[in-house]
Parts: sequence; C-alpha cells; structure tokens
Amino acid sequence: MKKNNCRDFEERIKMMVEAGYTTVGREIIKCTRCPLHKNAIRRVIGKGSCNPKVFFMGEAPGKSENETGIPFYGRAGKELDKMVEYMGLSEEDWFVTNTVKCRPPENRNPRVNEIECCKPFLAAQITLLNPKIIILLGNTAEKAYCPERKLDWGIPVEHEGRTILKLYHPAALIYTSSRKEIQRAFIDKNRNLWS
Ligand code: URA
Repeated sequence: MKKNNCRDFEERIKMMVEAGYTTVGREIIKCTRCPLHKNAIRRVIGKGSCNPKVFFMGEAPGKSENETGIPFYGRAGKELDKMVEYMGLSEEDWFVTNTVKCRPPENRNPRVNEIECCKPFLAAQITLLNPKIIILLGNTAEKAYCPERKLDWGIPVEHEGRTILKLYHPAALIYTSSRKEIQRAFIDKNRNLWS
C-alpha cells in the first residue's frame, strides 16, 4: 500500500466518521483494499448496541459468519453469548466485531497487511460507538489494536482514553474447561469496569 493511498484513506475515514455509522458500513461493503474481499460472500461489519459500554473485538469471520454476515454466528458465538450472560451485560451494553471484516481462506489467522487495511474501519467504529471498555478476545485482537504493548490476560490497562482488557477468545474456551474457570475469574475480578 503506498503512503499517499494510506493518507487519502485516513482522510476518507475521517469523513466517514463525520457522516456516521451507516456510511462506515457502506464503505466496508465496497472495500477492495486487501485480497480477502475476493472470497467474501458477506462482509461482517459488526452487531450490537449503537451505544455500548463494552466493545468486543474478535479475530476474523469464519464460515458461518461469511455466509450470514453476522459476527460470532457459529460455535464461538454460543460461547460468547454465555460469556456475555456471565458478565451480566444486557443487549444495549455491548457490540462485537472483528479485526478484519472478510473471512480469511481456510480459517487462517488474518495477516498483518490485512489487519492494517481494515484497521481504519475498526478505528471509525470505535470512535463512533465510543465504548468505555474494549475487550480484546485473544492475541490477534491485541496485535491489531495495540501492537506496541504486550498485555497480560485479565489485567485492564488504559489505552488511548479507554480501558482495554484482554480475555480468552471464546473459541479457546470450547475444548478446555480449565480456561473457562480462569476466564470466569478474570471476569469476576473486573466486573467493576462495566457494572
Ligand atoms: N466468529 C467471529 O466472528 N469472529 C471470531 O473471531 C471467531 C468466530
């Protein structure tokens, strides 16, 4: 990606933010900035409240998300729902999206250049939804959102005026019950952030 293209795109993002959330969604649907769009059936923009306390950041759409356009639609989504329930969040309290809006082939991790291309959309969503807390679900979300820091699991930090908390990705909880208990302990320790 050329520097000038980057700058032009940053300018466009600023304009998108001024134009509002629907415009960001439209730009995501039209985006061809990285090769992931070529195999996308649906772009997976995000779902949830337009005034969330908590903004969950996952990794990337999988097969069922690509087919439906809905983030965390598959098995990991059921685990996320359980997590949200345990946190005591109601529908108006949360929003979820991913580091990239198109499915990587074979469910591989998104690449650095793909994350970089999509990052301005993430930044626009965060600016517009203005959550108090960003929960990074796993290492890919951490790398995408604050690559310059190494966060500890379950320990909140302040970052660019918001509280950031790194928790396990719901998919990582599916097969390891010891992780479920650890995740619950992280949640219990941090309830004051969203309650
Ligand atoms: N589904 C998503 O939307 N994101 C993930 O990170 C995993 C499953």
